[in-house]
This record gives sequence, structure tokens and C-alpha cells, in this order.
Amino acid sequence: MTSDPLAWLDDRAAARVTAGLRRRLRPRAAAATSLDLASNDYLGLTRHPEVIAGAIEAVHRWGAGSTGSRLVTGTTTEHELLEAELAEFTGFAAGLVFASGYAANLGAVTALAGRGSLIVSDAGCHASLVDACRLSRARVEIAPHRDIAAVRRVLATRGEERALVLTDSVFSADGDLAPLAELHRVTRAHGAVLLIDEAHGLGVRGTGGRGLVHETGLAGEPDVVVTATLSKALAAQGGVVLGAERVRAHLIDTARTMIFDTGLAPAAVGAARAALRILRRDRGLPRRVLDRAAEIARIAGVPTPDSAVVPVILGDPRVAYEAAAACRAQGLEVGCFRPPSVPEGTSRLRITARADLSAADLTVIDSVLTPVLARARSIGAVPV
Ligand SMILES: Cc1ncc(COP(=O)(O)O)c(C=O)c1O
Repeated sequence: MTSDPLAWLDDRAAARVTAGLRRRLRPRAAAATSLDLASNDYLGLTRHPEVIAGAIEAVHRWGAGSTGSRLVTGTTTEHELLEAELAEFTGFAAGLVFASGYAANLGAVTALAGRGSLIVSDAGCHASLVDACRLSRARVEIAPHRDIAAVRRVLATRGEERALVLTDSVFSADGDLAPLAELHRVTRAHGAVLLIDEAHGLGVRGTGGRGLVHETGLAGEPDVVVTATLSKALAAQGGVVLGAERVRAHLIDTARTMIFDTGLAPAAVGAARAALRILRRDRGLPRRVLDRAAEIARIAGVPTPDSAVVPVILGDPRVAYEAAAACRAQGLEVGCFRPPSVPEGTSRLRITARADLSAADLTVIDSVLTPVLARARSIGAVPV
């Protein structure tokens, strides 16, 4: 018996080093010293002067923090305006903001499904939805990725009265789209609610960036609930749940991440409102992200994506890590996703496009990425 109750942490860390799965926090420079293709700042707005001014004005007016749960210390007009603006933009009756997209998913799922209900979740759903399922105490069935027939089978044979079906609209690791229209037909036919996470769809898909749900014609449907983060295209921080008025009211009464969590910080609210104003004004932004993503995919020799996410699968985690490190050494930041973020054998570079990438940036990307990928593929031996 060891006297150090945390000694096992060292053993686990050593095992992760051997498997190429050790994660490190790297310092980030305040001023950009490299070309960023790793972030989710899809519209390139985090440092936009109007977004920064929005954050500063909100801080001056409301203070640095929200001081408590909105149910305890009250809500600001800024929060309510953001909720109304997001609801109007995406085509829903109401919205409720949370401290993060993660908290929005935990709150929405656990409030809409509990003991005695069924959740059917796509195998590719984000970790926050996975955790929400675990917390909900509902019966959880994982459907294979984008498999409508599997969802139908589970719904058709359920004993539970209530059912909730979960999917991302744009899947974060692969950048592929959920078959939302078909999924909605199935959920409606079986009296289930469809909850769609638009984290990577908002600001990128749909007319003017209104999201894939809007693009599919599902905005405002009474049996559809949307969650989203404010930390990607909207360049701020926080999350939102969008749906019918009674969904909002139910979440205020019952969502634990609303009731027991400090309200979204005023700076994030002000920044998100400003980013949304820019998105409304510059309607070409979403198209530009998709065009840049197509260019990056061409350079990387992978299929044109339907979103801002360009996955370049290299297989082995060490190969992916070394490829990302080689890019970084030459001034190009790319994401490196390894298990458990992605399935075994699919470690990859996750490259994300931004609307503000210039022609000169694309030349740099080509000159760095092409040789790095040629080398990685020669040792990784994963077919494109
Ligand atoms: C699909 C998806 N949902 C939810 C989240 C969580 O959002 P947040 O970072 O705002 O907590 C993320 C990523 O961060 C995501 O990719």
C-alpha cells in the first residue's frame, strides 16, 4: 500500500506520454505571432474594435462580474436584449443565455429529460451533450453517427412517454452536417423533441449566418430546441438555449446551470451583441468562411467541407502531434485532436478557416502545410 494517495496520477501521466496523449498548456502571446488556424473565431471578430468596445461599455455600465445567479441578483437589460436579439436572428420565440455553451447544454438536456424519459444521442455529439446525458438520469441510447434509421428504431420501440433526440448541427471534430430535415421528420413522427447544438453552425451556415437549423427550415418549430455557444462565430463567451417561450420559462425554473451558476459576465454579453450586429451588417461573412475552408481543404488534399472545420486525418496520435508541432514551428497554429476527443486511429489536424484570412495568408498556409502533410502521410500511411 502506498502512502501517497495520488501516486497513480504519475503512472497515468507516464502511460499518456508513451501513447502520445500527453496534453500541455502552451503560453499564448497577446499579439499574434503566428497564423491562427486552430481557434473557433470563425468570423475573425474577437479583436474587432466594435466587439472590444461592446465588452468595455458593458463592463463600465454593469461591472466586471454578474455578482450572482440572475435569479438572485437580478438580470440586466443587456442580457435580455442579447436573448431577444439571438432569438430574433435565429428565428425562435425566445432565448436564455448561460455562462458557457457547455452549461447551456447541461441545463437544457437535464431540464428537458430526466428519470423516466429517453434520450437518443448521435455518437458524434459534443462532450457537453455526452455529459448532459449522463447527468440527466434518463435512459440514454447512442445512435451511430448520422444514422436516421437507428434513431427511428429506438424511438419506435420505446416504453418511455417522453423522448429527446440530440445532435450537433455541424459536428465539431469532422465538420460534417447532421441530416436535420430527416431527423426532424422522425422525431416529430414519434412525438420526440429534437435538440440541436448549433455551436459550429451559427454564423457559418444559413442566410447571413442564421445557422443550419434556419437553413433547413426548422427555425421556430415548436418541437425543436437549439443550443449554441457565443464563443465561436460570436467571438465572445457564453451559451444560449433558443426555443419556444415555455421552454425558456421551464429552464428558468428548472435548469440547474441557470439557477446555481453566476450569470454570464457583462463583458461577454456586450461583446456578443456587438458581434451579432456586425454579422447582421456584413452578410457576406459566412460565405467567406466557407470559401476559405474550401481553399484550405484543397491545399490539404481533403474533400471540401460544409463548414469552417477542415479535418485532416493522420491516424496515429504521435504523427498528428508532430505534424501540428512542425506547423507551429513555422508560424502556423493548427488544432491537433487525439483520443479521447476523437475515435482511436483517427488522430488529426483540425484546421479551422476564418473569414478574415487573406490571399497572402493562404500562400503561407500552402507553403507550410503541403510539405508537413507530405511527410506526415509518408510515415502515418493513412489514405487521404
Ligand atoms: C458542439 C459544441 N457544443 C458545445 C461546446 C461548448 O461551448 P463553450 O465552449 O461555450 O462551453 C462546444 C465547444 O466548445 C462545441 O464544439
